[in-house]
Amino acid sequence: MKIVNSKAELQALLSNAKGHKSIGLTPTMGNLHSGHLKLVDAAVEECDVVVCSIFVNPTQFGPDEDLANYPRTLEADKQKLNSANCDILFLPTVAEMYSDDLNGETTIHVPGVSANYCGQSRPGHFDGVATIVCKLLNIVQPTVSYFGLKDYQQFLVINKLVDDLRLPVKVVGIETERESSGLAKSSRNNYLDSNQKDLAAGLYSTLQWAAGQIQIPLCNFIAIEESATNRLNQLGLTVDYFSICHSNSLRPASQKDSELTILAAVFLGKTRLIDNIHVRL
Ligand code: PAJ
Repeated sequence: MKIVNSKAELQALLSNAKGHKSIGLTPTMGNLHSGHLKLVDAAVEECDVVVCSIFVNPTQFGPDEDLANYPRTLEADKQKLNSANCDILFLPTVAEMYSDDLNGETTIHVPGVSANYCGQSRPGHFDGVATIVCKLLNIVQPTVSYFGLKDYQQFLVINKLVDDLRLPVKVVGIETERESSGLAKSSRNNYLDSNQKDLAAGLYSTLQWAAGQIQIPLCNFIAIEESATNRLNQLGLTVDYFSICHSNSLRPASQKDSELTILAAVFLGKTRLIDNIHVRL
């Protein structure tokens, strides 16, 4: 695996592939786990050349969030990517991705799907995500870029970004990788002790419970959201949101919808965890 820090080095490496080989990109913030590696595996399976980026993007973190403490495990990440047959690791510095005047930079705002849920709880987060993903897509110019469905709202934001700006890339969503307890793999699980990890598994079991409830004819979505919220709060998980949504638009679901996604975010102490489940009625 080649490791490069600059756009120029990366573009030189990719110049031979451009035009006749497919390029797969998996953007990440590192601290790689088997969920990230599922994205890399899909890219290796489908593309001739695979680029993984690791960049802890400052603009998607709020002022009180965990940018400084975000887990950084570069040596282990390199080994995992090597074993996964990744071809190129792109490891840019902040100066490579942003100008000195961060506040004066062009920012991408994706309206609609970014407005609620994580968009409301983390103001500016999706602008930071959309802007860095757009930069990475411009630099790498991949044929296909892979994102996890665990971050389902992010996945929709990136799809809309790519559609609206007519970016010439195919976006692929990869199923969520979970612990045997059901807990979705996440770099932020590192903040949890083993007791908290057991509690955190309640997030997915509650999503599964709610997914069962919404399949009962004439059920009441609001009552299910409330029961699920109470259930999670009783477990000691502080609910940020638990919402039954229409899968494409993320507006609150109605009984007429056939594709539903239940989105949830909870706090366990200071750690914020998100997850979701898809239901076809
Ligand atoms: P990060 O949290 O490192 O995640 C990188 C990619 O891995 C994202 O597409 C995410 O959805 C996916 N992923 C994370 N956990 C997963 C799991 N358990 N199963 C499957 N896929 C999983 O998401 C980001 O970084 C950033 O916002 C980024 C898109 C890189 C922009 O900075």
